[in-house]
Amino acid sequence: MSKIKIAIQKSGRLNQDSVQILKDCGISIDNGKDQLKAATRNFPMEVMFLRNGDIPQYLRDGVVDIAIIGENVLVEKGQDIAIAERLNFSKCKVSLAVPKDVVYNSIKDLDGKRIATSYPNTVKEYLKEKGISADLHQISGSVEIAPNIGLADAICDIVSSGSTLFKNNLKEVEVMLTSEAVLAVSPSISDENRSILQKLQFRIQAVLKARA
Ligand code: PRP
Ligand code: MG
Repeated sequence: MSKIKIAIQKSGRLNQDSVQILKDCGISIDNGKDQLKAATRNFPMEVMFLRNGDIPQYLRDGVVDIAIIGENVLVEKGQDIAIAERLNFSKCKVSLAVPKDVVYNSIKDLDGKRIATSYPNTVKEYLKEKGISADLHQISGSVEIAPNIGLADAICDIVSSGSTLFKNNLKEVEVMLTSEAVLAVSPSISDENRSILQKLQFRIQAVLKARA
């Protein structure tokens, strides 16, 4: 019998809640710590623990059939990938921020400025829509430090509690998008696995309803 392959985040904000929603669906993961691939009990599923940013490509290539992933990652590099369910956890924003003592009136204030981000496509698209051109510096983490070390005038990153912005003396000036965890589907999922997906979605919908 076929097994559906699901990707979940290896470590980070989505990991625990992703494992939890599967558990609430009656699916327990046989997880030896540090194992990147795990079997499940009670459901025809195999779990792969992957890096967030790699998941869209794994879905595209059909290496995994489905994934629990932040919608913000799909906006950045998986616009071609379909969302089957919104999961109502790991809510966050992707925002622009500037040093808190800088006067900011509108997005026009960022014209010609340097912006550090891990979300270059999202920023590019947003600025293009607003008719603004800026100099983007792509960095993969600790983005909020960039203004303090003179690397950028502004940053674009995930804002959840807001504490990282606060600690780095930054203020949020534009919310570019709001995001939550979603269940995403590979374009090349087989018919057999699609019917397993339907069973999973049925359980997820029941869990979300019970949580509401
Ligand atoms: C993420 C994100 C922000 C922060 C937002 O960073 O890049 O920096 O969390 O959360 P907050 O609003 O609750 O403070 P993370 O800690 O995952 O590390 P990274 O930037 O090095 O990937
Ligand atoms: Mg960060």
